[in-house]
Amino acid sequence: MERPSWAPEDIDLDRPSAARVYDYFLGGAHNFAVDRQLAEAIASMTPNIGDTMRANRSFLRRMVRYLIGEGVTQFLDLGSGIPTVGNVHEVAQQADPDARVVYVDVDPIAVSHSRAILADDPNTTAIQADVREVDRILADPETRRLLDLDRPVAVLLLGVLHFVPDSDDPAGLVARLRDAISPGSFVAQVNVTHEDQPPEVIEAQKLSGRTGTPIHLRSRAELLAQFAGMSLVEPGLVHIPLWRPDSPLDVDDRRERFGALAGVARKDAE
Ligand SMILES: C[S@@+](CC[C@H](N)C(=O)[O-])C[C@H]1O[C@@H](n2cnc3c(N)ncnc32)[C@H](O)[C@@H]1O
Repeated sequence: MERPSWAPEDIDLDRPSAARVYDYFLGGAHNFAVDRQLAEAIASMTPNIGDTMRANRSFLRRMVRYLIGEGVTQFLDLGSGIPTVGNVHEVAQQADPDARVVYVDVDPIAVSHSRAILADDPNTTAIQADVREVDRILADPETRRLLDLDRPVAVLLLGVLHFVPDSDDPAGLVARLRDAISPGSFVAQVNVTHEDQPPEVIEAQKLSGRTGTPIHLRSRAELLAQFAGMSLVEPGLVHIPLWRPDSPLDVDDRRERFGALAGVARKDAE
């Protein structure tokens, strides 16, 4: 197929990517036939998956507003994705025009698009890095330019740690981030779970192996361990729509329909 102008030279157009599959589910335009085919295959097995992804974006908006209300104006968004409606800096800067956001993603299209839309905003930036490269991300001159780690910061890990296998120790990775941020900082996470999920979800998850970044479904206990040493704020680790919903009407009866758990934790003073 022909390479669109927004696709960097070095990406493989024949292999689906997690960022572009997600973009397709959210109604974005930065995906290829190979991504759409995989998304449709996953959706045919788990028709609710699009709802989960949209619920994740709603959580993002509620969570950023909550954190601004807690006085946090600096955000480190790891695995930030291809920009779509309601990005972190848009939600944050609506509440506080001086809010600062560093976006990080491993996907070159996510990063090039982020840079394009952020070009005129000196309070935001986008870095291409793997979330496992914690030290490099924290030491990056752009991170240092925008974020003062001696003051509270919000580290966002939404839909990204389930791409990190157990062998790379996702809980240890969060612990390294926790140790690098100051008391009063927060860590927000959304991760997929296999608990309460029907067998077809487990089967659909296997399709993610086609992207080269397979998804790892985890138990609630494993996901709680990814918040070790911090205090989960109310209502704790819950199915996405249950996290501080704007309206009781937003909460679906069958919450397990949303196969992902959301939580926000504060790093307390030692
Ligand atoms: C499901 S999207 C989530 C996007 C956004 N955080 C959200 O919640 O709407 C997952 C993103 O994580 C990125 N990603 C996957 N593995 C990663 C890794 N090891 N390091 C950094 N980003 C990664 C993908 O490229 C993709 O953009």
